[in-house]
Parts: sequence; C-alpha cells; structure tokens
Amino acid sequence: MQVVSGRNELREILDEWRHAGEHVALVPTMGNLHEGHLSLMTLAREHAERVVVTIFVNPTQFAEGEDFSTYPRTLERDKRHLKRVKADLLFIPDVETIYPFGTDAATSVTVPVLTEEFCGVARPGHFDGVTSVVSRLFSIIRPDVAIFGEKDYQQQLVIRRMVEDMHLSIKVVSGPTLREDDGLALSSRNQYLTDDERTIAPTLYATLREIGDALQAGNDDHGGLETSGMERLTGSGFHVEYVSIRRAENLALPDRETDRLVVLAAARLGKARLIDNIVVEI
Ligand code: PAJ
Repeated sequence: MQVVSGRNELREILDEWRHAGEHVALVPTMGNLHEGHLSLMTLAREHAERVVVTIFVNPTQFAEGEDFSTYPRTLERDKRHLKRVKADLLFIPDVETIYPFGTDAATSVTVPVLTEEFCGVARPGHFDGVTSVVSRLFSIIRPDVAIFGEKDYQQQLVIRRMVEDMHLSIKVVSGPTLREDDGLALSSRNQYLTDDERTIAPTLYATLREIGDALQAGNDDHGGLETSGMERLTGSGFHVEYVSIRRAENLALPDRETDRLVVLAAARLGKARLIDNIVVEI
C-alpha cells in the first residue's frame, strides 16, 4: 500500500492508473478504523480495480466544543488494518493541503433542506463541513465510485444529493452498518462510553428494531411510535436528540404510499453521542 500526503505525488499515481484504464473507488474516513470502515474497503474493491482510502480529521465539520482535538488518531494501527484489506493507496493530507486558503477563508459547499433537520440541528455547520471536505476530496482524487456507510444515513443522502445536484460523475455506493454482537453499531465514539454505559448502549438499536417491527406489523401511528421510542431511551439513561420515522429516499414526511421508511435516532449517553438507523420496507 502506498501512503502519500502531497497532491502532486497523489496525482502521479492516479494518472498512472487511469492511463492503464483502471477505475478508482474512494473511501473517505477520519481514521481510527474499525471493522465497519474496513467493510467499506471490501465493498470498494467490488466496484473498482483500485481502492483509495483517505484519513483526514476534518476540522470544519466539528462544531465549537465538539471532540475535534480529542478525536482518536491511530495512524499506525490504521495502516496495518488497511494493508490487511489490501487498500492500494492511503491519502493522509494535512489541513493546508485540503484548505489552501485556511479553514476560515475556505469556500463552503452547502446542501440545503436535507441538512436542516436531525444531525444538522444538533451539530450546526456539521454537514457544510462534510460536503466541503468531500467535494474537495472528489476534486483532488476524481474517483469513479465513492463509498459511504449507511450508519451515517443523513450524511450519505446529503452526499448523494450534492453529487446529483452538482452533476458530478461519481457513483455513490452505500455499505450496510456493521454491529457488535449485541447490536451496537460500530463507531469510533463508542470508546467514550464507560463500562456501565456500554451495557446500556445497545438499547438504541433495540429501540429502532422495536419501532421497525411495529411498522412492519401495520402500526401507522408514527407519532406514537416515535414518542414511545424516546421514552424508552430516556428511561434507560439516554439524552435523546431525536427518534424519527421518515421516507428512506429523502427524509421527507411519509405519506400513505410510502413503502420504504427509515427510522433515525440520535442520543447522548455520557460523553458519547450515538446515532443509528434502520430501513424498513412495509
Ligand atoms: P468516519 O466517521 O470516519 O466514517 C467513515 C465512513 O465509515 C463513513 O461513510 C461512515 O458512514 C462509515 N461507517 C462508520 N461506522 C460504520 C459502521 N459501523 N458500519 C459501516 N460503515 C460505517 O463519516 C465520516 O468519517 C466523515 O464525515 C467523512 C465522510 C470522512 C468526511 O469527513
């Protein structure tokens, strides 16, 4: 696996591959890789001859007071994982490479509407940071395919919208959420949980499943299901941000014809902010 941090070096390698007619799949990450991330690399391999992974803890997507400075940085371990899954290239740019005019003067990319609810409310500016960095990674790497996890459901929809709206010729592929045996979605932020909180954390997924089962059984009282989900989480010790049933396609409010729903939730447990979702076909 080649490891590069400069644009020119990267360009040379990418040009060589393109010359040989090879396609490139990009998996953007912030590092501290776990099996969830690595499953996206395996998926990437199914879509292109070359797999490029980026590790960049993007300052513009962290709000004031969030965990940017303490976000776990484990580059040497990450490299070992990436070799195991046979990534071809790891790009680890520094902030100046991504934002040549500095983060305060950076051109910002905004996807309105889709970002105005859920994580966009709890984390102001977060999605602008995500689209601003992902669009730069797309420009620098010019991938044929880009892979994102369904774990961050709203994020992958926002990126799909950006790609479509900006006429980028990149195929966006989503990978399923990898979970611990007890259902907790793998996340770098799970390490902020204490032992006690860790035993409570799977309740988030269990609650989503319960709502999913009720929807599939024909319960269409969405408001009631959302409220009882929030109550269950609050009763277990979570500080709930939202539990919501929406159209899987675009997060709009469902109507009687909607047959694909997503149940989204975000809740804080101690220092950790956990998010999860399930898609339900009815
Ligand atoms: P990060 O949190 O490092 O996640 C990188 C990718 O891994 C994202 O597409 C995320 O949805 C996916 N992922 C996380 N947990 C997963 C799990 N349990 N199963 C499957 N996939 C999972 O998301 C980001 O970084 C950033 O916002 C980024 C897109 C890199 C922009 O900075």
